[in-house]
Amino acid sequence: MKYMLEINNLIKKINGKKILDIDNIFIEKNKIIAVYGLNGSGKTTFFNIVAGVDENFIGSYNLHCEKLGYIVQFVENIVCKRNIFSEINSIVKNISITEEILQKLGIYERKDDSPFNLSDGEKRVMFIKSVLAVSECILADEPFANLDKKSKEMIKKSFKESKENGKTIIYSANRIHDTKIADIVLELKNGKLKKRDN
Ligand SMILES: Nc1ncnc2c1ncn2[C@@H]1O[C@H](COP(=O)(O)OP(=O)(O)OP(=O)(O)O)[C@@H](O)[C@H]1O
Ligand SMILES: [Mg+2]
Repeated sequence: MKYMLEINNLIKKINGKKILDIDNIFIEKNKIIAVYGLNGSGKTTFFNIVAGVDENFIGSYNLHCEKLGYIVQFVENIVCKRNIFSEINSIVKNISITEEILQKLGIYERKDDSPFNLSDGEKRVMFIKSVLAVSECILADEPFANLDKKSKEMIKKSFKESKENGKTIIYSANRIHDTKIADIVLELKNGKLKKRDN
């Protein structure tokens, strides 16, 4: 199957107002795709539908992906485990991968520390790295928001490496600058999702 995501006339209304009105979109596998749109343009609404969190919509879509990872907006707010090691391991379910991620993040010696003690940016990178490690395709809602240059670079590098490993990444951004690493940029505007020349 060449496409990871196929959308045919997908409409989402909230309180009678059309938030999404997407005609036809085909997203190929093994690419980095950016969904660019301003605040309130419907990015999270779109991601929630594609991720299967929101089933209240009209139309259809097909997602060809065995292992989908969804990095929600403000993922940094959902830390719940007792220590950083457990937080990562609860996602990857593999001790050696967990240790590798801890090493890569440079926080191995903090593995018994509470995840609440990480900065918001550090938490976000931790979740993104963990979810990327175990997913075939990844939806990441606003992964770059409020991150400094170093953290952004780390995530961009992870996205590129994941693509080299055959994965597909769809992420959202509200700054055009943050879409530069994408192979394809889709713009969400007035409910329509359209390819944009990058
Ligand atoms: N439960 C709701 N009730 C009413 N309006 C809603 C609801 N959820 C979303 N909306 C509206 O739908 C539109 C799209 O919201 P959405 O959260 O998808 O935007 P977004 O592109 O993700 O924005 P941001 O960049 O701020 O994250 C907004 O105008 C929002 O006010
Ligand atoms: Mg949003």
